[in-house]
Amino acid sequence: MDLSLPVLSPTTTTDRLDVAEPAPYPAAMLNVTNRCNLSCKHCFVYSEGNPNDPADMIGDDALLAELRRVRERHHVHAMLWMGGEPMIRWRLLERGVKLFPRNIITTNGTIPLRDFGVDLTYVVSLDGPEDLNDELRGEGVYAKVMQTLAALPDDFAPTMQIQCVVTRQNQDRLGELVGALRDTKVDGMAFSFHTPSVGEQSKFSFRDVRDREGAIDRVIELKRQNRGFIWNNSRALELMRAPTAKLVTDNCPTLRTVLPLYVEGDRLVTPRCCYGNDADCDRCAGWVVFAHAAKLDGPWDDVLPPSSPHDGLLTQFFAAMNG
Ligand SMILES: C[S@@+](CC[C@H](N)C(=O)[O-])C[C@H]1O[C@@H](n2cnc3c(N)ncnc32)[C@H](O)[C@@H]1O
Ligand code: SF4
Ligand code: SF4
Repeated sequence: MDLSLPVLSPTTTTDRLDVAEPAPYPAAMLNVTNRCNLSCKHCFVYSEGNPNDPADMIGDDALLAELRRVRERHHVHAMLWMGGEPMIRWRLLERGVKLFPRNIITTNGTIPLRDFGVDLTYVVSLDGPEDLNDELRGEGVYAKVMQTLAALPDDFAPTMQIQCVVTRQNQDRLGELVGALRDTKVDGMAFSFHTPSVGEQSKFSFRDVRDREGAIDRVIELKRQNRGFIWNNSRALELMRAPTAKLVTDNCPTLRTVLPLYVEGDRLVTPRCCYGNDADCDRCAGWVVFAHAAKLDGPWDDVLPPSSPHDGLLTQFFAAMNG
């Protein structure tokens, strides 16, 4: 049986909600609202060319009905709830997490977290130690997130994960953030890497894939020093290096594994990918992209062969869908 991932070029995606023969997706990502209480300097959601008008809105009942339809049409198993800030609509999330077996809510952590049960993971964003996080995310945000974490009751059921976006600016100070989180109620953390928009040259963006080599080395070293607490997959980190990075992004696995759903007007639309319409594929280093490449067959395997055959949940999903 052929278990390899069907290749879909980042430049040739179509509106996947409309095509006559719907593709299966193990996961979908939904921007539940285009509103946010922060305005982070690195945020891809609010870059030009993306559906991101804060006034655009689908009401709770209509959105949940549409999600049921998308779930059945595309066989979606896991939902990644994002935004804008998803906890602005926590009452919608309370109902929405019941629709999917697996749920992840990515939040800026400034709005109290609700206990929606053990099958949920909260991914809380912090992008460096206090001064660097607050330069990027806004003054007082780091302290507010720490308050949110401290306020969690001891019997809080969801898994608590921190996500830190590694930027050109914070790459040398990631260890400070890890140290500050070790004695909190956080179960673990993962580093995603900054994905710039096309042409972006900011103090956050890496110039090219070689420019981020040192940052990858640092995350690998932190993973070694903090066993069990840094959840990045080792193979995913190695795939981010120059010999394989472009093989991954030219054959982007998330175009087949994650169905991106943004809100435009009063309907759901699918931008090119989770990172919207104008992210720079050649410098993309989103966690999900390389984490999924690490678990699936692809042309990158010829350069960096896997130590064992890919047979995890993603592979099983596509095998089942291929009949
Ligand atoms: C767009 S936010 C939405 C959820 C929520 N508002 C939050 O900040 O966690 C989802 C995640 O994307 C990350 N992110 C934003 N801009 C990014 C970029 N240019 N490259 C990589 N990750 C980015 C954020 O730090 C956050 O962890
Ligand atoms: S809190 Fe999240 S959605 Fe809001 S601006 Fe920051 S990264 Fe973007
Ligand atoms: S996830 Fe990254 S590599 Fe894939 S299409 Fe989007 S920007 Fe390109």
